Amino acid sequence: MVAAMDTHLAQLFDFLRFPSVSTDPARRDDVSACGEWVCRKFVSMGLNAAVHGTAGHPVIFARTEPREGRPTVLIYGHYDVQPADPLDLWTSPPFEPRLEDGIIYARGSADNKGQILAHILGVEAALASGRELPVNVLFVVEGEEEIGSPNLGGFLTQHAQELHCEVVVISDSTMIAPGVPTLTYGLRGIGCIEVRVTGPAIDLHSGIYGGAVLNPINALTRMLATLHDGEGRIAVPGFYDAVEPLHDWERAEWARLPLTEERLLEITGAPALTGEPGYSALERMWARPTIEINGIGGGYQGEGTKTVIPHSAFAKITFRLVPSQTALAAIRQVADHLRKNTPAGVKVEITEGHHGDPYISDPTSGFGKAARRALGDTFGREVAVICEGGSIPIVQSFKEILGVNTLLLGLALPDCRAHSPNENFPVANFEAGIRLNQALLREIGAMGPE
Ligand code: BES
Ligand code: MN
Repeated sequence: MVAAMDTHLAQLFDFLRFPSVSTDPARRDDVSACGEWVCRKFVSMGLNAAVHGTAGHPVIFARTEPREGRPTVLIYGHYDVQPADPLDLWTSPPFEPRLEDGIIYARGSADNKGQILAHILGVEAALASGRELPVNVLFVVEGEEEIGSPNLGGFLTQHAQELHCEVVVISDSTMIAPGVPTLTYGLRGIGCIEVRVTGPAIDLHSGIYGGAVLNPINALTRMLATLHDGEGRIAVPGFYDAVEPLHDWERAEWARLPLTEERLLEITGAPALTGEPGYSALERMWARPTIEINGIGGGYQGEGTKTVIPHSAFAKITFRLVPSQTALAAIRQVADHLRKNTPAGVKVEITEGHHGDPYISDPTSGFGKAARRALGDTFGREVAVICEGGSIPIVQSFKEILGVNTLLLGLALPDCRAHSPNENFPVANFEAGIRLNQALLREIGAMGPE
């Protein structure tokens, strides 16, 4: 067992050494080398596997020998990662994995290499046991999740027949607390826009012209301030119209989860938790929409002061969406609102980025129950049943294109620092994921027809 774990960890470390940053054109070859590594891993397990080129980064598709009369489970994950910046905040280099006190530190350790490799190794172990697999397994591991999966929907449509399955399984979310098995039945959707405000043709002296020429940063901040009211509610007309209210059972269940507001304060380091009135922090994170300014720029950024009216300013904005909002409608509402609130004296240009609709499923379905049994058996604890605030847009596409629901079985911890410096993943969760995969495939195999 110890020896198996050593080789498992060695494989994870090899996987983590690829700087597979999908958004960075300079990393293109590293991303495809990482995809090739995943494909070789599948081939070494005896799977039928191939690298599928796309207009962007490749999709790796693998399958076990299909047998009739067994349900088919599609396991999805991503081998791309977010950029590692800011580099100086890492304790050790992001692409040189480090093990300390049972915790693996590296970019991608939690999101998503550790989690998807646990599933791959689970299937490898089941195959190596010599027993028949209880299900047919398909793996889809893509290289563009962190940039909104622009080519995966096309891949699903193109290969819909080969991808025919009963259910999708993904570990690319979190566990509510260490050791607490967690089934996630809803994810927020996402919409992205970039707003560019331009004023004078060139940067101007702010003493000479200030007062006559509107400053684009002043204009932009006034516009952005209209997105929320003073208490944290979204003030874009119609934005909440399609939002479905929380069920009483959800509010009751979430209120007794072991992720408290005190713990959220510790994890985030924020001085207080604030937001839309009338909802708990978890409710605001998991079941209410948000509009976030993720980046803002313009004007002088250097040392000291520079008295200038800059020629332009920009903001990068994303929204998180909940059922039954749709990303395209939300983008339109926010863009219209910002245009309407653009003061005279500047021009506004809004570009739309990627988007994905929210996802919700029934945690009491047959597959939901099978997942809960597998989680309970693996961790020996009561299963937390939650929604989450992050987005995996392809989950809704699996439903729309392949007609199947997804079981989201997160293995990362709330303080895994996904997208942040010192991203980490406990070895215990990696090992548990390998066992969970086998328990889950057993439970689904034993289910029979729904
Ligand atoms: N694994 C995350 C999403 C996630 C995190 C879901 C935690 C549930 C809990 C995924 O890799 C991710 O970060 N997705 C992006 C969206 C993408 C379109 C850029 C996100 O949520 O920002
Ligand atoms: Mn991510």
